[in-house]
Amino acid sequence: NKKLAIAIDGPAAAGKSTVAKIVAKKLGYVYIDTGAMYRTLTYSVLQHKIDISKSKAVVQHLEEISIDINAQQEVFLNSKNVTEAIRSDAVTQNVSAIASIADVRSIMVQRQQILAKNRAVVMDGRDIGTHVIPDAEIKIFLIASVSERAKRRHEENEKKGFLSNLEQIKNDIKQRDKMDSERKVSPLKKAEDAIEIDTTSMSIQEVAEKILAFVNTN
Ligand code: C5P
Repeated sequence: NKKLAIAIDGPAAAGKSTVAKIVAKKLGYVYIDTGAMYRTLTYSVLQHKIDISKSKAVVQHLEEISIDINAQQEVFLNSKNVTEAIRSDAVTQNVSAIASIADVRSIMVQRQQILAKNRAVVMDGRDIGTHVIPDAEIKIFLIASVSERAKRRHEENEKKGFLSNLEQIKNDIKQRDKMDSERKVSPLKKAEDAIEIDTTSMSIQEVAEKILAFVNTN
């Protein structure tokens, strides 16, 4: 079987990572969560109290830290496990500003392209099909209504025993989508050759099977 690159993009909380993990496991591919890379930088910037409006300082900080993600999807910042910490509200509310910095993106994209070089990857994010792997064999753009996405995230939080506010999640999602779609550098956008899947009334399993069907006919 030919080894492919599968790019999965879409707005916040559309189920990209859940679906990407299932598809990767089924194919024996590596899953790469690019959002976790931007989140880890954001976490570190907040920890160091660096002014996020000073893009030069943020870029310099990125060059000084190490970000690693292992096969179990555990995330490490300078060898410290930050898997949970990068999902905090503070990180979620600041990540889009950090991700809009052009030099941050070029460093991240370069790293992501190295990870995708040998194919056999499922990579999810916002600009994978448009900029990171523009020649990916399979490009998927996942969408769902804001209320459905907020509801899913809310239920996920409650299951984990986290404090969760549906209205706040809805607002965070809207705000993040707006910033990610309106930024100048590689905004969130469906690649022309991407397949759009509206998951509003689909189960995770159905979405994964639909993507796997495209893989089988490729
Ligand atoms: O995927 P996740 O929601 O964890 O991504 C967090 C944020 O990282 C996004 O809202 C976006 O601002 C940024 N991001 C990006 N490009 C990617 C992946 C994530 O700009 N490829």
